[in-house]
Amino acid sequence: MLSLLYLSRCVLEPDDQERELRAILSVAVQRNLRSGITGALVHSGCDFAQILEGPEAAVAQVMGSILIDHRHEDVRILARQQIEQRSFPNWGMAQIAAGPELQRRIDAIRAARDDDELAVGISSLSDWTRSGASARV
Ligand SMILES: Cc1cc2nc3c(=O)[nH]c(=O)nc-3n(C[C@H](O)[C@H](O)[C@H](O)COP(=O)(O)O)c2cc1C
Repeated sequence: MLSLLYLSRCVLEPDDQERELRAILSVAVQRNLRSGITGALVHSGCDFAQILEGPEAAVAQVMGSILIDHRHEDVRILARQQIEQRSFPNWGMAQIAAGPELQRRIDAIRAARDDDELAVGISSLSDWTRSGASARV
């Protein structure tokens, strides 16, 4: 199974964000469950981070749609790893709204000056997202 983590910036008017997010999630949950994908979408202000996990071909297919979605830009895949177990077994797509703690992690990734800083930032974001999910399951 593949697990993929990416970061992006939303292209949404502040007034539309809530509504668009609900629309994204309702499509995402249905399609993901049909495709055997689970994961979490976290957002802080206009930043998104998402973990998708599932069969490799299914993740690649959904990621193909996500990459060309005009509601966000600057999609940066941060991590791809083979996993034995899902971190979000009960979630077609968990939504985790987050504040400063998440923002700090995202900012650290964007500001990373070298591969080491980037790696530390990515694992911190990944751990934070996964621990948020386990608190909800
Ligand atoms: C930040 C973000 C996260 C998304 N996450 C998912 C997802 O997990 N699963 C999914 O099917 N679609 C997701 N979407 C929506 C897809 O980009 C796409 O609109 C949807 O899958 C329908 O695809 P289609 O237009 O190719 O049929 C997401 C969109 C955005 C902007």
